[in-house]
Amino acid sequence: FKTIDDMDLDGKAVLIRVDLNVPVDQGRVTDTTRIDKIVPTVKDVQAKGGIPVLLAHFDRPKGKRVDSMSLKQVVPALEAALGQKVAFADDCIGGPAKRVVAALEPGDVALLENTRFHEGEEKNDQIFAASLAALGGAYINDAFSAAHRAHASTEGIARLLDAGAGRLMEAELKALDAALGNPQRPVAAVVGGAKVSTKLDLLTNLIEKVDHLIIGGGMANTFLVAKGVEVGKSLAERDMADTARAIIEKAEAGGCTIHLPVDIVVAREFKAGAESEILPVDQCPADAMILDAGPDTVTAIREVFANCRTLIWNGPLGAFEIEPFDQATNAAAQAAAEATREGRLISVAGGGDTVAALNKAGVAGDFTFISTAGGAFLEWMEGKDLPGVAALEAAAS
Ligand code: 3PG
Repeated sequence: FKTIDDMDLDGKAVLIRVDLNVPVDQGRVTDTTRIDKIVPTVKDVQAKGGIPVLLAHFDRPKGKRVDSMSLKQVVPALEAALGQKVAFADDCIGGPAKRVVAALEPGDVALLENTRFHEGEEKNDQIFAASLAALGGAYINDAFSAAHRAHASTEGIARLLDAGAGRLMEAELKALDAALGNPQRPVAAVVGGAKVSTKLDLLTNLIEKVDHLIIGGGMANTFLVAKGVEVGKSLAERDMADTARAIIEKAEAGGCTIHLPVDIVVAREFKAGAESEILPVDQCPADAMILDAGPDTVTAIREVFANCRTLIWNGPLGAFEIEPFDQATNAAAQAAAEATREGRLISVAGGGDTVAALNKAGVAGDFTFISTAGGAFLEWMEGKDLPGVAALEAAAS
């Protein structure tokens, strides 16, 4: 696909699809990561003489105007990140958008209202996409985290204008390629989270691509059940045991080693500071639940990291949001961070919970790359084509 470097942007209004779906509390942005990450694209477009007109969605208003989902509330954070005023149009198409865009001068930036206020956005309606495209002379997609959606502002519009990838999109794709597409081997993956059922496609794809698969969180319990280990009152999908067994067999046959907990942290209650004990994996009492992996498991994970060149991480190893069940996640994250700092490991992480867990462990800054994507990161790890990326490729060919 094209990048900003390949495009003629001089004197044009450049429609830039960004992801401004940021956490907001009482009208104020509480985490500006996604906003901060689009700054290089906006500045580079300006440096090439283009006038950035930002397109984005916010939340899921389902095709209707919902005041609490207006992008107006992100304007102050956007202005702070860019260090300049941002003109806001209270509709992304039609008169209001046209008037704001027509008044822009070189050096200006505009933001258009939530694209999802129109039904045509999620339907990828051609007429809606054409109304967006009519506002500019070129299109740049910088929203990797929305690239799993085949929407008008991520897919349809790319067929109507000269189209390319922004800097964040480029960086995300480069990091993901280094982690799974064309990685330095051996490669390890950490996959955590509650359920096997929601990460089945991901597990199936990973066992074909990585050398070591470390499974943690609630889904590890399902794998333990599959191996005939009693897990007491732990969260486990017993009806997925056969599926888990099939994954283990397929992994073994293909040369991917699956690592499950060898020791566990159990408690009778799931609350902060609950009394807990560390036990061998096969000794979970009938009235207790597994809430974290134990220290021997962390040692084993550390060894895997020491023997690998690349790590891809999605999902916490235990119930990390409640202490003391965050310890395995924290310790493993620290081990990955240390190996990365020492230049021994390329580490890439993504997915909503994952980034929160790594931030909590205080090591997110040490990873080689932290994706801004949640769902798109997962779909990419599942080996699926992302429509937003495919559209840029098609536009270039
Ligand atoms: C995200 O927050 O992951 C993206 O902005 C996509 O949002 P969506 O899941 O509502 O499409």
